[in-house]
Amino acid sequence: MPYAHITGWGVSVPQSVLTNDDIAKMVETNDEWIRSRTGIRERRIAAEDQFTSTLAVDAAIKALQVADLAPSELDLIIVTSSSPEYIFPATACLVQDQIGATKAGAFDLLAACTGFIFAVNMAAQSIRSGSIKNALIIGSETLSRFVNWKDRGTCILFGDGAGAFVLQASDVPGGVLSSVMHSDGSGADALTLLGGGARYPASEITVAEGKHFVQMDGKAVFRFATRVMGAATREALDLAHMTVEEIDWIIPHQANYRIIETAAKYLKAPIEKFIINVDRYGNTSTASIPIAAVEAVESGKLKGGNKVVFVGFGAGLTWGALVAEWTGPILQTKKKYSPPTQYRFFAYRFIARVRSWLLRAVRHIERILSRHEL
Ligand SMILES: CC(C)(COP(=O)(O)OP(=O)(O)OC[C@H]1O[C@@H](n2cnc3c(N)ncnc32)[C@H](O)[C@@H]1OP(=O)(O)O)[C@@H](O)C(=O)NCCC(=O)NCCS
Repeated sequence: MPYAHITGWGVSVPQSVLTNDDIAKMVETNDEWIRSRTGIRERRIAAEDQFTSTLAVDAAIKALQVADLAPSELDLIIVTSSSPEYIFPATACLVQDQIGATKAGAFDLLAACTGFIFAVNMAAQSIRSGSIKNALIIGSETLSRFVNWKDRGTCILFGDGAGAFVLQASDVPGGVLSSVMHSDGSGADALTLLGGGARYPASEITVAEGKHFVQMDGKAVFRFATRVMGAATREALDLAHMTVEEIDWIIPHQANYRIIETAAKYLKAPIEKFIINVDRYGNTSTASIPIAAVEAVESGKLKGGNKVVFVGFGAGLTWGALVAEWTGPILQTKKKYSPPTQYRFFAYRFIARVRSWLLRAVRHIERILSRHEL
């Protein structure tokens, strides 16, 4: 049975920084309150011309470059997002087209902030079953578009960004070792975005009622999160026959420093074992775990051979954890001469654009011809 290794990673965060002091100019709050309650100092906000797919494509290309894998070699793309570009088509299909992943099946997975754990698990299981070889998983968010900037209970929390992993099959043991996924829909009303779906189709009334904004019972979510983070970590470790002591790093969903602190206490693990960057990005939902992971790699903390737990929770309610042995891009086979990576990937994107344009042109011509046929 092949193993599912994480062989590529990439992030994309918007340049624009929104500090707590900036938010204090919009609602009645202050830097001290936000920092002491959440640990957040600032977050990134997408520019007007940046969409969930824009950030996703950028993160995806970087991940493919690290893995040295051509987009055409991908079998599967999963985008997980709490702020997808549309209800449909899936954001994953927009990514598939823009990177030229010609043979990949692409779909979106919705499990709110736990989405990245669920998506990596789904891809890993597909690889373990032998049905695919190469998968691209992206968590991408432009949640700032769904935040009520007049609601101080939520607008302080969220930020925009994307992170991606490439998963590849190999006979070498390692990669994703275990995973657990949980849901409890009885807590569905604790964290919602109700407007624009089939129950509350967009209308003047839904807009007036603010149904297109994130709504949250902060205390209920806090209680739930502190309950499940440590427990899910322990459950995934038990499945992998490992203990917290054997783990090098825990990479949690970055929602709130105090929630992470509580999980550390529950697990009797030093807080230094946790990768934490919630101070700089806020809660980027599905993107928070890969963004933290990539920062850990780039800062030299997370290295090949390290044992790591990813753990998340979110709306639904959903929660889950995954134990992995971090691989790195060791699966690269010696290829015959090929141009430097950045040129190759520039070419891939250019070809993808031309291909997409040609396919659209063919569809346009077909439309004209079929009109004459009628
Ligand atoms: C949102 C959160 C920081 C609020 O902290 P809290 O201690 O629970 O605060 P409360 O909502 O009970 O509000 C306490 C007081 O602070 C006020 N308050 C709320 N937000 C505030 C803000 N941004 N600035 C200043 N005061 C604020 C409230 O109005 C309330 O005032 P009152 O006592 O006069 O009524 C906290 O509940 C939390 O982090 N929850 C988890 C949220 C989360 O992680 N969601 C994403 C999951 S994926």
